[in-house]
Amino acid sequence: MGCRNSSLEKKISLEESSNKGTLDAQSEPEVKEERPPLTDRQKQLLRDSWKIVQADIYKVGVVMFLKLFEKYPDVQDIFIPYRGQTLDELGNCDRLREHGLQVMRTVEKVIARLDKPENMEALLFILGQKHVMFNTKVDYMDLIGPQFILAIKPTFKNDWTIELEEAWSDFFKLVTFIMKEAMVF
Ligand code: HEM
Repeated sequence: MGCRNSSLEKKISLEESSNKGTLDAQSEPEVKEERPPLTDRQKQLLRDSWKIVQADIYKVGVVMFLKLFEKYPDVQDIFIPYRGQTLDELGNCDRLREHGLQVMRTVEKVIARLDKPENMEALLFILGQKHVMFNTKVDYMDLIGPQFILAIKPTFKNDWTIELEEAWSDFFKLVTFIMKEAMVF
């Protein structure tokens, strides 16, 4: 099963370059023991900014994964069809776009469940369990939030604030915290 090239004419490429990262002891993300809370103000910021991100979810999903693989090439190998592909090739890959969209759709569902913690938890717990079957390592989960932030930041130009960045960072910490709970047993 290969990674088909998309027929889309527009090729998405990385806008910024970043240093490669490794998942050694020093760079391993911190695993918090407490479930990170979101304030009402953060929830409102997330809902409002999601309306803007929503218009561009296809591109954000692809850019997010390209940035992830550029910085952490090991993660690319989890996806068997992506092995040996260059970032340029992956930018046109239907399967990559599909997973990018799957993540975005999950973000959308979690935003809709911000005040329904039990529903949110059920959704993310099942998704976490599935990722065990997808051979995703627990530590990889923490890598995605920062790349999502890098992917959406340019859309907001001067409207981007530290408060908004913290809201999205805490959002992904919560999402991946619940997914990781399902992955560790
Ligand atoms: C670096 C972290 C992650 C890795 C390595 C990873 C890996 C995978 C893999 C291998 C699949 C199987 C489908 C495919 O091969 O394309 C998959 C499916 C999926 N992933 Fe991820 N994933 C990651 C993070 C996430 C996150 C953070 C979310 C949501 C917020 C997510 C949402 C999904 C969804 C919704 C599916 C489809 C599940 C289904 O088939 O029902 N993934 N992921």
